[in-house]
Amino acid sequence: MPRTKAPAVAKAEEAQFSEERTKAEELRAQIDYHSHRYHVLDAPEISDAQYDRLVAELEDIEERWPQLITPDSPTQRVGAPPATDLFAPVQHSQRLLSLDNAFDFTDLRAWHARVTRTLDREPSAFVCEPKIDGVSVAVVYENGRYVRGATRGDGSVGEEVTPNIRTIRELPERLATDDPPPWLEVRGEVFLSLADFERVNAEMGEAGKALFANPRNAAAGMLRQKDAKVTASRPLSVYLHGLVRVDGVALRSYSQTLEFFRSVGLPVHPEARSLRTLEEVESYCDTTSERRHSMDHEIDGVVVKVDDHDERSELGATSKAPRWAIAYKFPPEEQTTKLRDIMPSVGRTGAITPFAVLEPVRVGGVTVSQATLHNPDEIERKGILIGDTVVVRRAGDVIPEVVAPIPSLRTGAERKFQMPSQCPSCGGPVVRREGEVVSRCVNLSCPHQVLGRIVHFGSRGAMDIEHLGGKTIHALLERGLVSDAADVYFLSAEQIATLPLFKDKSVHNLARAIESSRDRPIDRLLYGMGILGVGGTASRALADAFESIDAIAAAPAEDMAAVEGIGPVIAASVREFFDRPETKQFVDKLRRAGVRLAEKRKREAGPLSGRSFVITGTLDSLSREEAKDRLEALGGKVTTSVSKKTDYLVVGDNPGSKLAKAEELGVETLDEKGLLALLG
Ligand code: IVH
Repeated sequence: MPRTKAPAVAKAEEAQFSEERTKAEELRAQIDYHSHRYHVLDAPEISDAQYDRLVAELEDIEERWPQLITPDSPTQRVGAPPATDLFAPVQHSQRLLSLDNAFDFTDLRAWHARVTRTLDREPSAFVCEPKIDGVSVAVVYENGRYVRGATRGDGSVGEEVTPNIRTIRELPERLATDDPPPWLEVRGEVFLSLADFERVNAEMGEAGKALFANPRNAAAGMLRQKDAKVTASRPLSVYLHGLVRVDGVALRSYSQTLEFFRSVGLPVHPEARSLRTLEEVESYCDTTSERRHSMDHEIDGVVVKVDDHDERSELGATSKAPRWAIAYKFPPEEQTTKLRDIMPSVGRTGAITPFAVLEPVRVGGVTVSQATLHNPDEIERKGILIGDTVVVRRAGDVIPEVVAPIPSLRTGAERKFQMPSQCPSCGGPVVRREGEVVSRCVNLSCPHQVLGRIVHFGSRGAMDIEHLGGKTIHALLERGLVSDAADVYFLSAEQIATLPLFKDKSVHNLARAIESSRDRPIDRLLYGMGILGVGGTASRALADAFESIDAIAAAPAEDMAAVEGIGPVIAASVREFFDRPETKQFVDKLRRAGVRLAEKRKREAGPLSGRSFVITGTLDSLSREEAKDRLEALGGKVTTSVSKKTDYLVVGDNPGSKLAKAEELGVETLDEKGLLALLG
């Protein structure tokens, strides 16, 4: 500490120093603990992102107080010591380093600027690759033969897992070349595809064993199996992402290396790209982030690497990571947080679903304070207790979900969730039918069900009434301005204006949105009615076949079940719905409101008037759309599903199940020639 400072300042600084020294010690202990759980036990308790944060916090302290750096600080090491009591130790010929992280484009640009400054020019090219969330390995080929595979361990000494890595099918036993290098040492990432992960976990579940928390843990666990036969029964994969040493082959860049790997049959990531500019790199990061969920394996970022080997040497490495590469990390999709409570909620169908009340946590780019728990069986199966520390996941646009509890962090104060025996909304009885996993409130006028039904009625796939959100509907119900969805059409501007936060413009917007929804196609209205089991597809099939709500309301269940895509269960549910007196009143109210209840008859009169067609399979001379347009131009009607009312099924190449249905119902079929003749 500088002596020239005034005593008061020095004292304050001293106090802070001692506070931060304590903090650093705590952080080191925590990091060591979590590192051991992650690397050695394959059973992490916190997410990678949280671990990274602990390290970043420690790094921050050490940067401000360099005298606090200890030689064994986690910031000075890579990974965890290998479990050499289980596996033979392998001394790596070069340390397996880690990567520095960039959490946004600002970090990425700072890295680019550093690299450019050191080289005194921009790097000549970059190679970008998805950053696989897997397990790092080192692999050696001698004279073209696979001889050794090892885990990273602490970076210097790894664990020998040669037989386990040999089980990976993509990794050749012999290189595909007549002239193999005497020595080839490479690095790569071993991982498990998402499909294989699900399968492995299903098997574990069946065998009554503990499930793997994620594909990375599963891959690590399988790689470190003592019995390689167990590993062999599990489908591990690998992509190589680094060259350590190759004798007798001159490789001047990483892109050449990838080319060489491919040429000798070594697997590299198919999405690896050679790019010139920082802009291109950023756009690669964006696209890869968007496509993250369409890949068949988990990735947690993009690795950006300087391509040229000379430039790499010039840049060098710190004790932890190369300066020529950086990991651009996506926002984490899994975090741990506290489960404060479990609350039951009532949906529009009366289903009572427990949801998790969480200590707010940032995950998947947003702050999450609630998550779904699906149903009580799921809570039981996952062993979740109120008060648990839990893993929360939000991937893409998917609803946040509680993945699993972390039992090792329990304090004893946790308690079990009890499903209520009365509806939390109306106090009515809760019923769980035989064979169903959900409990339901059976009171149709239960306030939460009414709210849910109106929300559904106005939702995007249904009547699509913009500006009619849950809060607005809640306020309308509270004021007694509506009691069902049809009442919405009788609202006056004055009534809307009494709602909180509604001003001239928003009143007008909502009124207009309601107005324009009167004319939606009837399949959307049918879907909006929220009949149990009737989704978008079933609604379209019924609307196509019957053309009006009244016709559907009058149809016997057998007639509905004869429509393709409608089974007896859905038919019975629709029948039951329209038999209710409340439904009749509801439909009448919609009629009075001027809501469209029948399909628009836009068909021209023509030679095919009154004839109905369905098209299946591929036609040679025209597309299905064209065929439809031309049939309609002649007055014909084209629907998507075969029913008793269908006059002709037009059959192209590779017809689907429609043909069988037509044959079953005795519907006449037309081949392409017949169709063309009809069209003249
Ligand atoms: S290159 C010097 N490329 O991420 C280290 N690593 O967080 C060079 N990883 O230890 C590594 N995908 O295990 C590289 N396409 C990729 C990668 C990748 C995943 C892993 C690797 C590394 C860790 C660093």
